[in-house]
Amino acid sequence: MHEPTTLPLYDSSAADAILDPDARAAVVDRLHEARTTLINDADGSSGSATFDPLDIDFVNWPTRLLEDEAELSRIEEIGSRFRERADALVLLGIGGSSMGPRALFSALCDPYHNERPRDARRGAPRIYFDGDNLDNNDQVALLDGLAHFQEEKWNLLVTSKSGNTIETAIALRVFLAALEARLGDSAEVAESLAVVTGARSPLRELATGMGCENIFTLPDAIGGRFSVLTAVGLLPAAILGLDIRRLLEGAAEMTRVFCEADAGQNPVLGHAATSITAEAHHGMSVRVLCVWSQALESLGLWHDQLLAESLGKGGRGATPLTAVNTRDLHSRGQQHQDGRRDKLITNLLVEETRTTPLVIPARADDIDGLNRLAGRTLHEVLEAAVRGTNRAYAEDARPTADIRLHRLDEFSMGAVLQMLMLAITLEGYATGINPFGQPGVEDYKRHMQNELGS
Ligand code: PA5
Repeated sequence: MHEPTTLPLYDSSAADAILDPDARAAVVDRLHEARTTLINDADGSSGSATFDPLDIDFVNWPTRLLEDEAELSRIEEIGSRFRERADALVLLGIGGSSMGPRALFSALCDPYHNERPRDARRGAPRIYFDGDNLDNNDQVALLDGLAHFQEEKWNLLVTSKSGNTIETAIALRVFLAALEARLGDSAEVAESLAVVTGARSPLRELATGMGCENIFTLPDAIGGRFSVLTAVGLLPAAILGLDIRRLLEGAAEMTRVFCEADAGQNPVLGHAATSITAEAHHGMSVRVLCVWSQALESLGLWHDQLLAESLGKGGRGATPLTAVNTRDLHSRGQQHQDGRRDKLITNLLVEETRTTPLVIPARADDIDGLNRLAGRTLHEVLEAAVRGTNRAYAEDARPTADIRLHRLDEFSMGAVLQMLMLAITLEGYATGINPFGQPGVEDYKRHMQNELGS
């Protein structure tokens, strides 16, 4: 029996009271047209593609993969093999090859996963992320940590679509050398390695040459930051014991609603409409994603990349910013309430707690005066903080919108990830910015190679 399939809800009523309604209505009309073009591109029925490159296959991917039992079972099978035999997993990747898996891990696993005994972490290995930096101290510390547990097994999962991103490629050499030194036997090294990469990549060649059979292919027409629901995110999720079918079901359902529903019932259209209206008609070019759960900070960082790399082109594109509340009410909060009027705040909220509700205890002395809250739950106080903050922004004509997840589970995560990917892509279609590719990132790579004399 499946869990209830509740999609995230989008509510922009607070922003709508502040933003120009005629401007928003015009944006909605444009978005309806853009949606048709996007859907035709995704179905391959456009005749001629709107953009080049056109990494649009993420749109129908969840439905397609749910129908591809062989591929789905292979991810689950290899996932459980790694889960059972590894005490620790090192995941190497950068950008889209790292942020998605991190978002899934942080949202859906225990915040102290690595400190828990195996049976309290779904029988899954501890997980460490690397290959996303050139930081000597960071990598040495991880290698030292892995070497410390002599009797433990650690495995390696490397993700790189191109297979030649320098940060990940160097880390692979370093960690592979450590694994080889530890295991000695080349067949065992090959078994301890899993790879997610493009159809033609030096990483694939390397892994195949080593006799590694745990290789997954990233589809050509899915870019890194749109790849979280391919093997890029699903393989580590399966290793962690998460329900990858539910992730895909949430995403497939979000795509269906995006394609069929009108703006009022369509979280993708609603979110894109508010964002474009705030930026184009009110000069609000900073988009703050306020997550009201510590577990969603990594999703916020994933979204920062999604927005920045997709729309930050040709001198255009809003600036993304993640805030974690209530923590950041005590740092960024001042500026959001009282600073430049250049921000649209979107709250990402989770309605139900996953764990037992904490109740505020009473104290005989009541020196801190908190007995007035005794008996209430921490979550009730959080909800009061959400309402209070939204009211404070509204009183000063600062627009906010809410995305509400029923609870933090695989279905909701699949749905909200797909919602945000669709909304950014739709915005690109409606505003004439190609959301795919990241030509700007190539400049630093070229100069760095020159510096290295290669
Ligand atoms: O979104 C993207 O395509 C990028 O952020 C890439 O994921 C990132 O540059 C890493 O590339 P690769 O997976 O080829 O190593």
